[in-house]
Amino acid sequence: MAAEQNAQALDSAFYQSADTFFSGQAGTALTYDDLTIATLYSDILPRNASLDTDLAEGLTLHIPMVSADMDTVTESRMAIGMALNGGLGLIHYNMAEKQQLKEVSRVKNHIHGLIQEPITVAPDQTVGEVLERIDAKSYSFSTFPVVDNNQKLVGLLSGNVIKPRYASKPITDALVPRDQVQTIQEKELGADPIAIADQFFTEHPGINKLLVVDSDDRLRGLFTLSDIERITLENQAQFRPARDEKFRLLCGAAVSTPRTADGALDRERIETHVGGLIERGVDVVAVSTAHGHTKGVGEAVELIRSAYPALRIIAGNVTTAEGVEYLADKGANVIKIGQGPGSICTTRIVAGVGIPQMTALYVASRAAKNKGVSLLADGGITKSGDIVKALTLANGVICGGLLAGCPEAPGKVMEISGKLYKQYRGMGSLEAMKAGSAARYGHAAKDTGRKIAAEGIEALKEVSDNLDHLLAQLIGGIQAGMGYLGAPSLPELREKARYIRVSPAGQREAAPHDVVEMKASQ
Ligand code: XMP
Repeated sequence: MAAEQNAQALDSAFYQSADTFFSGQAGTALTYDDLTIATLYSDILPRNASLDTDLAEGLTLHIPMVSADMDTVTESRMAIGMALNGGLGLIHYNMAEKQQLKEVSRVKNHIHGLIQEPITVAPDQTVGEVLERIDAKSYSFSTFPVVDNNQKLVGLLSGNVIKPRYASKPITDALVPRDQVQTIQEKELGADPIAIADQFFTEHPGINKLLVVDSDDRLRGLFTLSDIERITLENQAQFRPARDEKFRLLCGAAVSTPRTADGALDRERIETHVGGLIERGVDVVAVSTAHGHTKGVGEAVELIRSAYPALRIIAGNVTTAEGVEYLADKGANVIKIGQGPGSICTTRIVAGVGIPQMTALYVASRAAKNKGVSLLADGGITKSGDIVKALTLANGVICGGLLAGCPEAPGKVMEISGKLYKQYRGMGSLEAMKAGSAARYGHAAKDTGRKIAAEGIEALKEVSDNLDHLLAQLIGGIQAGMGYLGAPSLPELREKARYIRVSPAGQREAAPHDVVEMKASQ
């Protein structure tokens, strides 16, 4: 018994609870690599650890991950991928408002497995023209619905006639005519379109395309057998998509806070923009700025809260307890924590401010508890271990750089010296500010032509695995961390975490060392 007590006392002297550890480190700012988490007795299997997280009432994610509202990270394709995996995407606002509304609609109307805007061809084109287009756009498919000027279905151009020998033939001579094309009415899809499509393909051996039409026979979408088969397999996966009460995917959007000529918030424009997003079904809006503990951001959050009392609001960024309380009092439900940790951020270098993430998260988490708001750890995440550490204090993480190399992120792939890259830029970089994000860094849009201090860089990310695979790896890492702590859920992870600082030698020990690495495990 005495020995047991000694063991426990020994452990808690070295491996300390958040309050003891961070208070003991007051005066030093720590980030992810500065500390490690001690293991604890465990009786759970990592794969059974639940990653559900409640960000706000009615806003539950099944994985605690959010893609950043940055113009090289999140548009509809990324947001769809995030939500399908149980997370959330925040659509950036460096685009016309109308375009942003469209992006939100794409996510909210997304039916998994249904290609809603299939690439079509016109009856008066030739097979040769289609071949040229496939080549120019590098399409990986060769079957196309044929539609007239009014989107009315004329037939289907099958892959087995897209051959150079038929190049001069008009599509009208090569297509499968309308009356032989398998279609389904949009209104027959019901609540579970995948099950309907799955049943159709089972009942029609040899058919691998099913077109969706409306009551005027206009093309509304396309199911392919291979997509349906893949999804049926994925449905056995552990993490459910993040959906709203109408079974639509969750989607967030960033809103800017424009001002009128006299410097006051442009109330009308903000209300119209947010109102438009709500109409499209947005689940949460984000007021993202470099400095959230300011009069301007407080006023903007207050304005949105008073205009739309039921709307969920994410606001930031702050790194102090007072900052958290301020935004919570103004009406934010979720607060973003992070000033200068981002992989493309230069705020700490340019302005000399900002707090390394773990200390910022600890301080913020105590204020968040008092105010009943949740926290997102924003920026600086480079590996799943960082996410586990962040989740001991926050309700979720926001990732930019980690996701920017995925095919789902906006932007073209570039080849440089035989390697493939995608652009990734800070929203405080000059080019991004010119494209619309100047206000986020406290500058007027008109000033971006003049010399203003950028707080972000333009960079490249190596093209990475697709989002599903990348998230599977990250989720596996988070669950492994929870397994080491015997934490079956995120609240228990927060409860159980015990910390200790790591020396520089300890940091070196943590990564592969004294070996020649042949293959990084993916
Ligand atoms: P990661 O490390 O995931 O960080 O690439 C993404 C987060 O960085 C923030 N962000 C910036 N911060 N200057 C900054 O100081 C910038 O130009 C900039 N752009 C984005 C933002 O919080 C994002 O989620």
